[in-house]
Amino acid sequence: MAYQTLIVEVEDYVALIRLNRPEALNALNSMLLGELAEALKEADANDKVRCIVITGSEKAFAAGADIKEMSTKTSVEMFLSNFFGTESESLLRTRKPIIAAVAGYALGGGCELAMMCDFILCADNAKFGQPEINLGIIAGIGGTQRLTRFVGKSKSMEMHLTGRFMDAAEAERSGLVSRVVPLAQLLPEALATARKIASKSQVSVLAAKEAVNRAYETTLHEGVLFERRLFHSLFSTEDQKEGMAAFLEKREPQFRDR
Ligand code: HXC
Repeated sequence: MAYQTLIVEVEDYVALIRLNRPEALNALNSMLLGELAEALKEADANDKVRCIVITGSEKAFAAGADIKEMSTKTSVEMFLSNFFGTESESLLRTRKPIIAAVAGYALGGGCELAMMCDFILCADNAKFGQPEINLGIIAGIGGTQRLTRFVGKSKSMEMHLTGRFMDAAEAERSGLVSRVVPLAQLLPEALATARKIASKSQVSVLAAKEAVNRAYETTLHEGVLFERRLFHSLFSTEDQKEGMAAFLEKREPQFRDR
Protein backbone atom coordinates (compact mmCIF):
# COMPACT_ATOMS: atom_id res chain seq x y z
CA MET A 1 0.00 0.00 0.00
CA ALA A 2 1.22 3.54 -0.80
CA TYR A 3 1.44 5.98 2.09
CA GLN A 4 1.71 9.77 2.14
CA THR A 5 3.61 10.15 5.39
CA LEU A 6 5.60 6.91 5.51
CA ILE A 7 8.07 5.06 3.33
CA VAL A 8 7.83 1.30 3.81
CA GLU A 9 10.29 -1.23 2.42
CA VAL A 10 10.43 -4.97 3.03
CA GLU A 11 13.73 -6.81 2.53
CA ASP A 12 15.31 -9.89 4.12
CA TYR A 13 12.19 -10.46 6.27
CA VAL A 14 12.49 -6.99 7.81
CA ALA A 15 9.96 -4.18 7.31
CA LEU A 16 11.62 -0.77 7.48
CA ILE A 17 9.08 1.97 8.19
CA ARG A 18 10.39 5.52 7.80
CA LEU A 19 8.35 8.39 9.18
CA ASN A 20 8.35 10.91 6.38
CA ARG A 21 7.15 14.44 7.16
CA PRO A 22 10.51 16.22 6.88
CA GLU A 23 8.88 19.67 6.67
CA ALA A 24 7.60 19.23 10.26
CA LEU A 25 10.43 17.13 11.74
CA ASN A 26 8.12 14.08 11.46
CA ALA A 27 5.55 15.61 13.82
CA LEU A 28 2.86 13.02 14.43
CA ASN A 29 -0.47 14.06 12.97
CA SER A 30 -3.62 11.97 12.58
CA MET A 31 -2.70 10.92 9.06
CA LEU A 32 0.79 9.76 10.02
CA LEU A 33 -0.34 7.81 13.07
CA GLY A 34 -3.28 6.32 11.13
CA GLU A 35 -0.92 5.23 8.35
CA LEU A 36 1.57 3.87 10.88
CA ALA A 37 -1.17 1.77 12.50
CA GLU A 38 -2.13 0.47 9.04
CA ALA A 39 1.50 -0.27 8.05
CA LEU A 40 2.07 -2.18 11.29
CA LYS A 41 -1.10 -4.19 10.77
CA GLU A 42 0.07 -5.06 7.25
CA ALA A 43 3.57 -5.98 8.46
CA ASP A 44 2.12 -8.16 11.21
CA ALA A 45 0.03 -10.05 8.62
CA ASN A 46 2.82 -10.33 6.02
CA ASP A 47 4.67 -13.69 5.94
CA LYS A 48 7.67 -11.90 4.43
CA VAL A 49 8.08 -9.81 7.61
CA ARG A 50 9.54 -11.22 10.81
CA CYS A 51 10.77 -8.01 12.46
CA ILE A 52 9.96 -4.31 12.06
CA VAL A 53 12.16 -1.21 12.30
CA ILE A 54 10.64 2.25 12.73
CA THR A 55 12.92 5.20 12.03
CA GLY A 56 12.79 8.88 11.13
CA SER A 57 15.40 11.17 9.59
CA GLU A 58 18.90 12.03 10.79
CA LYS A 59 17.52 15.23 12.35
CA ALA A 60 14.35 13.88 13.91
CA PHE A 61 12.76 10.57 14.77
CA ALA A 62 9.66 12.66 15.55
CA ALA A 63 9.46 16.09 17.22
CA GLY A 64 6.17 15.26 18.93
CA ALA A 65 2.50 15.34 18.13
CA ASP A 66 1.67 17.96 15.51
CA ILE A 67 1.17 21.19 17.43
CA LYS A 68 -0.58 22.87 14.46
CA GLU A 69 -3.16 20.10 14.32
CA MET A 70 -3.80 20.18 18.08
CA SER A 71 -3.64 23.93 18.74
CA THR A 72 -7.32 24.77 18.20
CA LYS A 73 -8.90 21.55 19.48
CA THR A 74 -11.32 21.55 22.40
CA SER A 75 -11.23 18.94 25.13
CA VAL A 76 -14.58 17.60 23.89
CA GLU A 77 -13.12 17.10 20.39
CA MET A 78 -10.04 15.42 21.87
CA PHE A 79 -12.21 13.16 24.02
CA LEU A 80 -14.72 12.22 21.32
CA SER A 81 -12.00 11.41 18.78
CA ASN A 82 -10.02 9.53 21.48
CA PHE A 83 -7.06 11.58 20.22
CA PHE A 84 -4.24 9.18 19.36
CA GLY A 85 -5.66 6.58 21.75
CA THR A 86 -6.98 4.37 18.98
CA GLU A 87 -3.77 4.62 16.91
CA SER A 88 -1.45 3.95 19.84
CA GLU A 89 -3.48 0.97 21.02
CA SER A 90 -3.35 -0.51 17.56
CA LEU A 91 0.45 -0.09 17.54
CA LEU A 92 0.66 -1.99 20.81
CA ARG A 93 -1.31 -4.90 19.30
CA THR A 94 1.55 -5.67 16.89
CA ARG A 95 2.83 -9.15 17.71
CA LYS A 96 6.10 -9.03 15.78
CA PRO A 97 9.05 -7.24 17.40
CA ILE A 98 9.44 -3.54 16.63
CA ILE A 99 12.78 -1.76 16.98
CA ALA A 100 12.82 2.04 17.20
CA ALA A 101 15.94 3.40 15.46
CA VAL A 102 16.16 6.95 16.81
CA ALA A 103 18.36 9.74 15.45
CA GLY A 104 17.91 13.39 16.38
CA TYR A 105 14.82 14.56 18.22
CA ALA A 106 12.42 12.12 19.88
CA LEU A 107 10.23 14.56 21.76
CA GLY A 108 6.77 14.37 23.28
CA GLY A 109 4.74 11.91 21.21
CA GLY A 110 7.99 11.02 19.39
CA CYS A 111 9.59 9.85 22.63
CA GLU A 112 6.35 8.07 23.53
CA LEU A 113 6.24 6.34 20.13
CA ALA A 114 9.84 5.15 20.57
CA MET A 115 8.98 3.82 24.05
CA MET A 116 5.98 1.90 22.65
CA CYS A 117 8.37 -0.05 20.40
CA ASP A 118 10.00 -3.16 21.87
CA PHE A 119 13.40 -1.56 22.26
CA ILE A 120 15.22 1.59 21.21
CA LEU A 121 18.56 1.78 19.43
CA CYS A 122 19.75 5.35 19.09
CA ALA A 123 22.35 7.41 17.30
CA ASP A 124 24.85 9.53 19.20
CA ASN A 125 22.93 12.69 18.16
CA ALA A 126 19.63 11.51 19.70
CA LYS A 127 17.72 13.81 22.06
CA PHE A 128 14.79 12.54 24.11
CA GLY A 129 12.32 14.71 25.96
CA GLN A 130 8.76 15.25 27.13
CA PRO A 131 8.49 19.01 26.59
CA GLU A 132 4.67 19.14 26.65
CA ILE A 133 4.87 21.20 29.87
CA ASN A 134 6.10 24.13 27.71
CA LEU A 135 2.82 23.98 25.76
CA GLY A 136 0.54 23.98 28.79
CA ILE A 137 -0.28 20.28 28.51
CA ILE A 138 1.22 16.97 29.61
CA ALA A 139 2.21 13.79 27.75
CA GLY A 140 -0.79 11.99 26.24
CA ILE A 141 0.27 8.65 24.80
CA GLY A 142 1.97 7.03 27.74
CA GLY A 143 4.96 9.27 28.50
CA THR A 144 4.31 9.78 32.20
CA GLN A 145 3.90 6.03 32.68
CA ARG A 146 6.49 4.53 30.34
CA LEU A 147 9.34 7.00 30.90
CA THR A 148 8.93 6.47 34.64
CA ARG A 149 9.19 2.70 34.21
CA PHE A 150 12.27 3.10 31.98
CA VAL A 151 14.31 5.65 33.94
CA GLY A 152 12.71 5.83 37.40
CA LYS A 153 10.59 8.48 39.08
CA SER A 154 13.21 11.12 39.80
CA LYS A 155 14.53 11.52 36.26
CA SER A 156 11.12 11.06 34.66
CA MET A 157 9.53 13.63 36.96
CA GLU A 158 12.30 16.14 36.27
CA MET A 159 11.92 15.66 32.52
CA HIS A 160 8.14 16.02 32.58
CA LEU A 161 8.20 19.04 34.91
CA THR A 162 11.02 20.97 33.22
CA GLY A 163 10.80 19.74 29.62
CA ARG A 164 14.58 19.29 29.48
CA PHE A 165 16.08 16.96 26.86
CA MET A 166 18.20 13.88 27.59
CA ASP A 167 21.13 13.14 25.27
CA ALA A 168 22.09 9.71 23.96
CA ALA A 169 24.69 8.99 26.65
CA GLU A 170 22.23 9.81 29.45
CA ALA A 171 19.52 7.77 27.70
CA GLU A 172 21.79 4.73 27.62
CA ARG A 173 23.03 5.25 31.18
CA SER A 174 19.48 5.43 32.49
CA GLY A 175 18.13 2.44 30.58
CA LEU A 176 15.90 4.25 28.08
CA VAL A 177 17.79 2.82 25.09
CA SER A 178 19.43 -0.54 24.63
CA ARG A 179 22.48 0.86 22.78
CA VAL A 180 23.99 4.02 21.26
CA VAL A 181 25.81 3.84 17.92
CA PRO A 182 27.42 6.48 15.68
CA LEU A 183 24.82 8.20 13.49
CA ALA A 184 26.11 6.60 10.26
CA GLN A 185 25.79 3.16 11.84
CA LEU A 186 22.26 3.55 13.16
CA LEU A 187 20.30 2.13 10.24
CA PRO A 188 22.82 -0.62 9.33
CA GLU A 189 22.94 -1.68 12.98
CA ALA A 190 19.15 -1.58 13.42
CA LEU A 191 18.63 -3.61 10.24
CA ALA A 192 21.33 -6.13 11.21
CA THR A 193 19.69 -6.51 14.62
CA ALA A 194 16.29 -6.97 12.99
CA ARG A 195 17.70 -9.60 10.59
CA LYS A 196 19.20 -11.43 13.54
CA ILE A 197 15.78 -11.54 15.24
CA ALA A 198 14.21 -12.58 11.92
CA SER A 199 16.56 -15.59 11.78
CA LYS A 200 15.21 -17.08 15.04
CA SER A 201 12.19 -19.32 15.45
CA GLN A 202 9.21 -17.01 15.20
CA VAL A 203 7.38 -19.08 17.79
CA SER A 204 9.96 -18.33 20.46
CA VAL A 205 10.38 -14.70 19.31
CA LEU A 206 6.67 -13.98 19.77
CA ALA A 207 6.65 -15.85 23.07
CA ALA A 208 9.67 -13.88 24.35
CA LYS A 209 8.01 -10.57 23.43
CA GLU A 210 4.80 -11.53 25.20
CA ALA A 211 6.65 -12.73 28.27
CA VAL A 212 8.87 -9.63 28.63
CA ASN A 213 5.82 -7.39 28.20
CA ARG A 214 4.10 -9.21 31.05
CA ALA A 215 6.73 -7.72 33.34
CA TYR A 216 4.93 -4.39 32.89
CA GLU A 217 1.42 -5.70 33.28
CA THR A 218 1.37 -8.09 36.22
CA THR A 219 2.98 -9.13 39.48
CA LEU A 220 6.38 -10.85 39.59
CA HIS A 221 4.81 -14.14 40.65
CA GLU A 222 2.18 -14.14 37.89
CA GLY A 223 4.76 -12.97 35.34
CA VAL A 224 7.16 -15.78 36.22
CA LEU A 225 4.31 -18.30 36.07
CA PHE A 226 3.27 -16.95 32.65
CA GLU A 227 6.89 -17.32 31.48
CA ARG A 228 7.17 -20.86 32.84
CA ARG A 229 3.99 -21.98 31.09
CA LEU A 230 5.20 -20.53 27.78
CA PHE A 231 8.64 -22.09 28.36
CA HIS A 232 7.06 -25.51 28.93
CA SER A 233 4.82 -25.17 25.87
CA LEU A 234 7.77 -24.40 23.60
CA PHE A 235 8.95 -28.00 24.15
CA SER A 236 6.08 -29.04 21.88
CA THR A 237 7.68 -27.30 18.89
CA GLU A 238 9.90 -28.80 16.20
CA ASP A 239 12.04 -25.67 16.49
CA GLN A 240 12.97 -26.55 20.08
CA LYS A 241 14.10 -30.01 18.96
CA GLU A 242 15.99 -28.49 16.02
CA GLY A 243 17.59 -25.72 18.12
CA MET A 244 18.89 -28.13 20.74
CA ALA A 245 19.96 -30.78 18.20
CA ALA A 246 21.85 -28.11 16.22
CA PHE A 247 23.70 -27.03 19.36
CA LEU A 248 24.69 -30.62 20.18
CA GLU A 249 25.71 -31.32 16.58
CA LYS A 250 27.70 -28.04 16.49
CA ARG A 251 25.83 -26.59 13.49
CA GLU A 252 23.50 -23.67 12.76
CA PRO A 253 19.80 -24.39 13.47
CA GLN A 254 17.29 -24.40 10.61
CA PHE A 255 14.13 -23.06 12.20
CA ARG A 256 10.83 -23.64 10.40
CA ASP A 257 8.34 -21.96 12.76
CA ARG A 258 6.77 -25.25 13.72
C1 HXC B 1 4.30 20.75 14.38
C2 HXC B 1 6.58 21.07 14.26
C3 HXC B 1 6.78 20.35 15.46
C4 HXC B 1 5.62 19.81 16.10
C5 HXC B 1 8.69 20.99 14.74
N1 HXC B 1 7.80 21.44 13.85
N2 HXC B 1 8.10 20.32 15.73
N3 HXC B 1 5.34 21.27 13.74
N4 HXC B 1 4.41 20.04 15.54
N5 HXC B 1 5.71 19.08 17.23
C6 HXC B 1 8.02 22.22 12.65
C7 HXC B 1 8.37 23.67 12.96
O1 HXC B 1 7.18 24.43 13.17
C8 HXC B 1 9.08 24.09 11.69
O2 HXC B 1 8.13 24.34 10.68
C9 HXC B 1 9.84 22.83 11.29
O3 HXC B 1 9.16 21.74 11.96
C10 HXC B 1 11.29 22.84 11.76
O4 HXC B 1 11.31 23.10 13.16
P1 HXC B 1 12.19 24.25 13.83
O5 HXC B 1 11.59 24.57 15.14
O6 HXC B 1 12.38 25.39 12.87
O7 HXC B 1 13.59 23.49 13.99
P2 HXC B 1 14.69 23.72 15.12
O8 HXC B 1 14.92 25.19 15.36
O9 HXC B 1 15.86 22.88 14.69
O10 HXC B 1 14.08 23.14 16.47
C11 HXC B 1 13.80 21.73 16.59
C12 HXC B 1 12.91 21.45 17.83
C13 HXC B 1 11.66 22.36 17.78
C14 HXC B 1 13.71 21.72 19.11
C15 HXC B 1 12.53 19.97 17.77
O11 HXC B 1 11.04 22.24 16.48
C16 HXC B 1 10.65 22.04 18.82
O12 HXC B 1 10.79 22.41 19.97
N6 HXC B 1 9.55 21.40 18.39
C17 HXC B 1 8.40 21.12 19.26
C18 HXC B 1 8.71 20.00 20.24
C19 HXC B 1 7.53 19.71 21.13
O13 HXC B 1 7.09 20.58 21.89
N7 HXC B 1 7.03 18.49 21.10
C20 HXC B 1 5.87 18.08 21.91
C21 HXC B 1 4.58 18.27 21.16
S1 HXC B 1 3.17 17.88 22.12
P3 HXC B 1 8.17 25.72 9.81
O14 HXC B 1 6.95 25.61 8.97
O15 HXC B 1 8.19 26.84 10.77
O16 HXC B 1 9.46 25.59 9.04
C22 HXC B 1 3.08 16.20 22.11
C23 HXC B 1 1.91 15.57 22.85
C24 HXC B 1 1.85 14.09 22.68
O17 HXC B 1 3.89 15.55 21.54
C25 HXC B 1 0.52 13.50 23.09
C26 HXC B 1 -0.42 13.27 21.95
C27 HXC B 1 -1.68 12.58 22.28
